Amino acid sequence: MVDMKRKGIILAGGKGSRLSPITLGVCKQLLPIYDKPMIFYPLVTLMLAGIREILVITTPNDQKSFQTLLGDGTNFGISIKYAIQREPKGLAEAFLIGAKFIGNDQVTLILGDNLFYGSSLVSQLKDADRKEEGATVFAYPVRDPERYGVIEFDKDGKGISIEEKPENPKSKFAITGLYFYDSSIIEKAAKITPSLRGELEITDINLMYLREHKLDVEVMGRGMAWLDTGTFDSLHEAGSFIRTIENRQGLKLGCPEELAWKQGWINDKELEDIAKKMLKSGYGEYLLELLIT
Ligand code: G1P
Repeated sequence: MVDMKRKGIILAGGKGSRLSPITLGVCKQLLPIYDKPMIFYPLVTLMLAGIREILVITTPNDQKSFQTLLGDGTNFGISIKYAIQREPKGLAEAFLIGAKFIGNDQVTLILGDNLFYGSSLVSQLKDADRKEEGATVFAYPVRDPERYGVIEFDKDGKGISIEEKPENPKSKFAITGLYFYDSSIIEKAAKITPSLRGELEITDINLMYLREHKLDVEVMGRGMAWLDTGTFDSLHEAGSFIRTIENRQGLKLGCPEELAWKQGWINDKELEDIAKKMLKSGYGEYLLELLIT
């Protein structure tokens, strides 16, 4: 069997208009979620899936800030490349923008404002990663499904329909912003046409996999958190959530340097050098303590 590689894309475009005026001067995915920039959390999610080649797609204006923050990925023991989405033309455009980067490999897309937390996350990511053909998406029960792509299940728990932001949702299960695809993704993305809101919809891609009976829908259960950051309140709540857990456990969530070091992707000396640049905030001290415990 050919060993397929999986690449990762973080889509961090969009205007973040629901958060203006905060997002007039800085893009949403760079806003703090407690003690880290938002994009650290989806970055760590991809790294937890074992993905080490990542493309970060941003607006033209914001690219430089992301490059300043993340560099070429060396600090995290991974490779990070950058691309631009000129207009917010939909999530599925990421596969056209990233076509060269993806090549013939499999790809996982995560939205730069999606935060996942929970003890079964890693096993769900690994299961999705292992699949060579088809797609895997994750469903999560929410109070306001009409804001999302909504999946309907039959009585055996099989996904049977997906609707983008339906007025009358057929279930309470939203499809999260984390998608695992096989190498047919570019071909599929090239076939879809813009929706009424003028976007290439990820839902249309998922429907293509569904029709081919190649869409796996994994439910993220009660013990999982999929946090929203789209409104003032949910942004604040996400920060409080992270703060509560970090302060209780004395461990950080969404810390890419720590994960890279634990995976053996960066060594002790590299971690120490990174840490020393951030001693004043306590983040560096946390990284240094990893080396002595
Ligand atoms: C997008 C997708 C939607 C999905 C959501 C997850 O919505 O279109 O299917 O449920 O991300 O965050 P948008 O961010 O465009 O509102």
